[in-house]
Amino acid sequence: MQGPTYAAPRPDAILLDFEGERQDIAVYETAGGYAMARSQAGRPFEEIVQELKDSGLRGRGGAGFPTGLKVSFIGKGSRYLVVNADESEPGTFKDRELMLRNPHALVEGCVILCNAIGAGAAYIYIRGEYATEALVLDAAVAQARQRGYVGATLPGAPGAVEVYVHRGAGAYICGEETALLSSLNGERGQPTAKPPFPAVSGAWASPTLLNNVETVATVPFILAMGCKTYSELRTEQTTGTRLMSLSGNVARPGNYELPVTATFGDLIDGCGGGVPAGRSLKCFIPGGSSAPILMPDQLDVQIAVETCAAAGTMAGSGAVIVIDDRTCMVQLALRVADFYRHESCGKCTPCREGTRWMVELLKKVESGQAQRAEIDLLLELCDRMEGKCLCPLGDACAMPVRSYLQHFRAEFDAHVEQGGCPGGAASPFGALYPELKRSLPLVPA
Ligand SMILES: Cc1cc2nc3c(=O)[nH]c(=O)nc-3n(C[C@H](O)[C@H](O)[C@H](O)COP(=O)(O)O)c2cc1C
Repeated sequence: MQGPTYAAPRPDAILLDFEGERQDIAVYETAGGYAMARSQAGRPFEEIVQELKDSGLRGRGGAGFPTGLKVSFIGKGSRYLVVNADESEPGTFKDRELMLRNPHALVEGCVILCNAIGAGAAYIYIRGEYATEALVLDAAVAQARQRGYVGATLPGAPGAVEVYVHRGAGAYICGEETALLSSLNGERGQPTAKPPFPAVSGAWASPTLLNNVETVATVPFILAMGCKTYSELRTEQTTGTRLMSLSGNVARPGNYELPVTATFGDLIDGCGGGVPAGRSLKCFIPGGSSAPILMPDQLDVQIAVETCAAAGTMAGSGAVIVIDDRTCMVQLALRVADFYRHESCGKCTPCREGTRWMVELLKKVESGQAQRAEIDLLLELCDRMEGKCLCPLGDACAMPVRSYLQHFRAEFDAHVEQGGCPGGAASPFGALYPELKRSLPLVPA
């Protein structure tokens, strides 16, 4: 399916709109880099907060919380900045490319925010699997230190800023902010109750500003172009550009930076070339695997926070996964639920037991051993998981499964009626779950 081509070039792309990479600090400086770290170092906290509020920037980690407001909450005392580089939501790989190709944008964002809130150190908590990205960041920090942006006091700044790259051990739950902070503090990476919020008690029980990589890397650009210019690119409640990770059954997967006014059709068809020839779009996941799906007639939904919410889903982490007509929704549900089962930290019972039970039920449906009542039981299980835990990991498992059932109930029923997956041998799924393959009916591909 080939849709309209997204109008290129895009003068509104700011984070990745260049050829090659800018790992070398000289290249970044030539492009105007670190000018804001220098010029904003002595700017009062209130002014930077106002600038960020006026820019309309919303956090890019998933919840879309207004960044200026979050910065304004920071408590008194010794403070820290923590950058969430855990990037574990399935389908999301934008922070990775940003850190690889434009690492100094992140380091500069750290220096600016630390000076604004009076923090002496920033910790970039990066997922364990991102070994190369961690090395690239280490090198970028070393270069910034040589140039006096890190480890020295910039003129007018409240003090010197240190930037540490801290590698996690590769647990999805450590992307959740309180679990991340527990892990950073040397404790088991599990969520804790809020309040206290990180702005009051975070890293080493001190006031902590915690933001996503893309959020922090956007700050120098906002200050450089001015909040007014940045906020002109807007929907009603969302501004600027977003890095969108596009994957799944699409001709040209990859990261694309789009204005928030763009639609999912612009991304999937215009940038991604649509679903490969001979197939058709069945549905798409708009904001990471935990987001409820959207249907082909919703390609005109804009990628902004409030437009996604109005369409019954969430913009989430900006990860769009395209699903074509060959996909079995029960298999997809099982694959997604099994991810969350594996990643549940086990602290809260509804999540620990609910995700496991969800997987068992879906295996029964997929292998044709379920009763029809057990499909209703799946929905009941969703009710018992959503909003019942310290963090939304259980919700992340229940929300997509509920949406697959809502839109493709007949497909689930067909598994019961036909005693197995109607897709049968056409699917490569058996390789992932060999115990199910045996019970699948043999349908020629
Ligand atoms: C289970 C779970 C996993 C999360 N994983 C990530 C992640 O990998 N990266 C991220 O930036 N935010 C993640 N978040 C959101 C963070 O808790 C937090 O809201 C975000 O980092 C705040 O930054 P922002 O305001 O810049 O978006 C996750 C949240 C939950 C509940």
